[in-house]
Amino acid sequence: MAMENYRHFLFFLITSILIGFLSILFVLIWVFQWREGLAWDGGLAEFNWHPVLTVTGFIFIQGIAIVVYRLPWTWKCSKLMMKFIHAGLHTVAFVLAVISLVAVFDFHNYKSIPNMYSLHSWIGLMGVVLYTLQLVLGLCIYLFPMTPAFIRAAFMPIHVYSGLLIFGTVIATALMGITEKLFFALKNPAYKDSPPEAVFINTLGLLIVVFGGTVIWMVTRPSWKRPSEEASTFKQDGKVSSVTENELNLNSFDKATMESSSEAWKRNLKLEEAGLRSTM
Ligand code: HEM
Ligand code: HEM
Repeated sequence: MAMENYRHFLFFLITSILIGFLSILFVLIWVFQWREGLAWDGGLAEFNWHPVLTVTGFIFIQGIAIVVYRLPWTWKCSKLMMKFIHAGLHTVAFVLAVISLVAVFDFHNYKSIPNMYSLHSWIGLMGVVLYTLQLVLGLCIYLFPMTPAFIRAAFMPIHVYSGLLIFGTVIATALMGITEKLFFALKNPAYKDSPPEAVFINTLGLLIVVFGGTVIWMVTRPSWKRPSEEASTFKQDGKVSSVTENELNLNSFDKATMESSSEAWKRNLKLEEAGLRSTM
């Protein structure tokens, strides 16, 4: 990757990791300093696992899982290994999200609070269901060795789109949850009087948005994409021809990554036309 381009990437990566860690720190300070801490007792301390695990797992780990293919120093590693890392991190995020839901449902049931009444809970549960589907489909399509290449290629734009849509939805859900919780919890002084806890946790909301923004930026830069490595077969003018990306002048590691964004866009368009955008 050209030096300048590499520096830009590193800037976004370091920013997103620092902001991600800061968000986790904020949520921990929140539950320990202002709230009831963490416990599994049916009370508010059990509820607190909900924000802690969603911010750590469903937001931070999911965000990191989404960018792993973009790390230039992993481009020499096999694609299969990167798939295991991507899928593994998403699985960890999924497990933490499920535990966070168990905590909040358990807390509601223990206190006889109704379930699933808020927009936050509707969108949140929908996000978890879609995430489950994305994970299962991802495993079947990209890790199951018998899946034909054309299915992998055809599904890739949907996989990327739905992955980013879910990620954005999860962030929106967290913002709703934070707002709701502050309205419920802050009575005297009230939320509208901006006590330090409110300002602190509003800031957590901002950090989460910036984290999401940096992840989505990194993952939508065409010139920061992992260079494709495989030769493929595609159909052109009714004929099936076997074309390597080299033949399309596209597979030179350095060349590909030194391109300007617009050149990379052209490259990807060309590949898409050829059904070759090898993100499989
Ligand atoms: C409740 C999902 C993040 C605060 C719920 C419920 C779901 C859910 C499905 C309903 C539980 C029930 O009805 O028993 C999610 C998801 C999140 C997330 C997928 C991923 C980001 C957060 C965060 C907070 C939060 C960061 C901040 C404190 C709440 C509160 C409730 C709740 C206060 C109880 C009130 C209600 O049902 O709306 N959440 N949540 N959530 N969540 Fe979240
Ligand atoms: C790429 C999301 C699970 C395989 C991506 C991208 C996103 C994403 C946003 C685009 C990354 C980029 O352009 O650099 C998700 C989400 C998942 C999930 C949210 C879980 C819920 C899986 C699983 C597999 C998988 C289980 C199986 C191996 C892939 C592959 C790519 C990819 C092969 C293409 C990488 C490339 O462009 O080189 N995923 N994914 N994903 N994902 Fe997933």
